[in-house]
Amino acid sequence: MSHRILQITDCHLFADRRELRGIATWPRLEAVLDEIRNRFADFDCLVVTGDTAHDEIEETYVAFREALGDLTERLFLIPGNHDNREAIAKVFPDRCELIDGRLTFQHSLGGWQLIGLDSHIPGEVAGRIGAAQLTWTGGPFCSTQDLHTLIFVHHPPVLIHSRWLDAIRLEDGEVLIELLEQFPNIKLVCCGHVHQESATATSGPLVLTTPAVGPQFRPRTDEIEIDPLPPALRVIDLEPDGTWTTQVVRSEVK
Ligand SMILES: [Fe+2]
Repeated sequence: MSHRILQITDCHLFADRRELRGIATWPRLEAVLDEIRNRFADFDCLVVTGDTAHDEIEETYVAFREALGDLTERLFLIPGNHDNREAIAKVFPDRCELIDGRLTFQHSLGGWQLIGLDSHIPGEVAGRIGAAQLTWTGGPFCSTQDLHTLIFVHHPPVLIHSRWLDAIRLEDGEVLIELLEQFPNIKLVCCGHVHQESATATSGPLVLTTPAVGPQFRPRTDEIEIDPLPPALRVIDLEPDGTWTTQVVRSEVK
């Protein structure tokens, strides 16, 4: 039996519903949630990979939880650079746990495990996994080599070839990839942060980035350029034999 995972990322919401760079982010989230309810309601897990609250205040997470409604029962979430770990943990105490100052998760289903890593550095735009979390991460991988693995982390651990985005990348991305390469059961790393779709092969897992719910960025630019594309989600179907398929689905904003 296959399992369906949905990823949404980079909602960039404000509690007062203001726009970001001239783009209203709440209607984009509402369009994506409608898409999920109308076309993918039978999913197994919904993973939110950071930059949920651009204003980083608790009120925004409360409104986000209300918008998710009963989808929250199948939710996992990790922080991005525009997030507040303590506020996430307070609003979603049933869906995440703050351990040693990091919001991570591990969830097993159908011969697979999903692992969420926390790359948030308060006050910075770039990301870092950090030595302690890398050590922690190696442990579960060593003990679960019989499980096919899908990892989620906000900042991609590879270059995206946009100068301004590569300047705010995951600082220890190469170290993370070197760690992941040791475990052939790790199939995929799914990220956000760069607001565009990409796929990068490594000598270990394939690294995918998923377009934002909020504003999209044009690929391969030196400076920020908004791409007038609609919001998106990623659908990942996991098979018991370790194979997978994925698609990015764009949603029309009304
Ligand atoms: Fe973002």
